[in-house]
Amino acid sequence: MGQFLMKFEYKVRRATLADLHKIMALYREVALNSGGIAREADEITGVYVRSFIEKSLGSGVILVVENPSDPEELIAEVHTYTLGIKVFAHVFSDLTIVVRPGFQGRGIGKLLFGTLMEEIEEKHPEILRVELIARESNEKAIGFYKKFGFKVEGRMENRIDGKTGRLEADVPMGRIRPGQTRL
Ligand SMILES: CC(C)(COP(=O)(O)OP(=O)(O)OC[C@H]1O[C@@H](n2cnc3c(N)ncnc32)[C@H](O)[C@@H]1OP(=O)(O)O)[C@@H](O)C(=O)NCCC(=O)NCCS
Repeated sequence: MGQFLMKFEYKVRRATLADLHKIMALYREVALNSGGIAREADEITGVYVRSFIEKSLGSGVILVVENPSDPEELIAEVHTYTLGIKVFAHVFSDLTIVVRPGFQGRGIGKLLFGTLMEEIEEKHPEILRVELIARESNEKAIGFYKKFGFKVEGRMENRIDGKTGRLEADVPMGRIRPGQTRL
């Protein structure tokens, strides 16, 4: 990936620690107005966001999309990183993607996730598996990941307390690098 990737008017770039407060604002808005991510707004703390930015910068990938009419605002973010354990060194895990609620359904998620997958393909040949978890009711996200070659790998029963009075399943998904020879 070049430093910047233009498609439509949206620009994907790598994040830095200087984006911490912008990413916090984005995650809080998604938690309050959209859902899909596990944490509630009051759980989107500076410690949490700094932790995933640092892990992604250290051993993963973190990309953001700026609002074309206000570059101070981020409208989407995706990150993933290795778990820091030797037997999992070929795995990118803890993947999370968010698009600001008013901007969802316009192809921004697809642009950002496509860029992430290209980046992994080209810059991280050591990564043979990418994994994530989506709650079962998040059909949009599960459908979205399937379009990128992720497969449902199981069902973790009653793992999510959606605060609706019912527990729901969490769905682990994974994508294996095509053509890799260690299977
Ligand atoms: C999931 C999310 C990242 C998708 O981003 P987005 O910008 O809204 O999605 P896009 O507009 O790029 O659409 C991407 C694809 O998803 C598809 N899609 C949308 N709704 C779908 C559904 N209910 N089932 C299957 N696919 C669906 C679209 O059809 C589109 O594919 P296409 O263009 O080939 O038709 C975004 O909606 C989001 O941030 N949601 C809240 C947070 C979240 O749930 N994150 C994932 C946590 S696991």
